[in-house]
Amino acid sequence: MQKDLGNYRKIYAKSELEEKSISDNPIELFQKWFYETEASDGIDEPNAMTVSTIGLDGFPKSRVVLLKKYTHEGFIFYTNYDSEKGKAIEENPNVCVSFFWPNMERQIIIKGKAEKVAANLSDGYFESRPDGSKLGAIVSNQSSVIPSRSVLEEKLKNLEKEYESKEIHRPNNWGGYIVKPISVEFWQGRPNRLHDRIRYTLVGIDWKIERLAP
Ligand SMILES: Cc1cc2nc3c(=O)[nH]c(=O)nc-3n(C[C@H](O)[C@H](O)[C@H](O)COP(=O)(O)O)c2cc1C
Repeated sequence: MQKDLGNYRKIYAKSELEEKSISDNPIELFQKWFYETEASDGIDEPNAMTVSTIGLDGFPKSRVVLLKKYTHEGFIFYTNYDSEKGKAIEENPNVCVSFFWPNMERQIIIKGKAEKVAANLSDGYFESRPDGSKLGAIVSNQSSVIPSRSVLEEKLKNLEKEYESKEIHRPNNWGGYIVKPISVEFWQGRPNRLHDRIRYTLVGIDWKIERLAP
């Protein structure tokens, strides 16, 4: 079976990225682009991002997670610390995070170091989740091999009974990571494949800004 996709071709012409109209700080440009994506109404989950880690097997692995907060310090997502990504980060905190917002013809690629957020921050976020999501986090030994779906459903049923009138606390192996960026690249599609690529690189406490060839 095969399919040739050579004719898939799109003209990118929605916007441009000029040095004269960007801020000195990539988080501010990230925020501008994030707001524009939210307002565009063309993306279901603008906060969905791909996180790539270097696995214990030496291979990179990418998966989608949800950005739950960003600050000048970095980008925060929540997960299971014992998952495949958790074990990878424990061994090698260097990660890559990327966003692709097709309706905006934009991509952002962030390289950085992931570290666990403070326990009280994870507690606060866990607390804000609906009970079903809280129990889901407890039920699932994320990334482990399981014999069947029914094992999970059975476990959830039992937990629902157990926690009927009890407070659900965050398990220790579930919490947030903050990715502290060392470089942030903004890609804006342009006609004739002459796309704009602007990369911010952290040098000391300042950001160096460079244009990259598309
Ligand atoms: C739209 C979307 C959002 C997701 N959000 C999260 C998330 O915030 N946290 C998480 O741990 N997994 C999330 N997942 C599941 C991950 O992609 C992945 O299956 C899971 O984290 C296990 O990855 P790992 O085995 O590589 O550690 C999401 C998946 C999708 C498609």
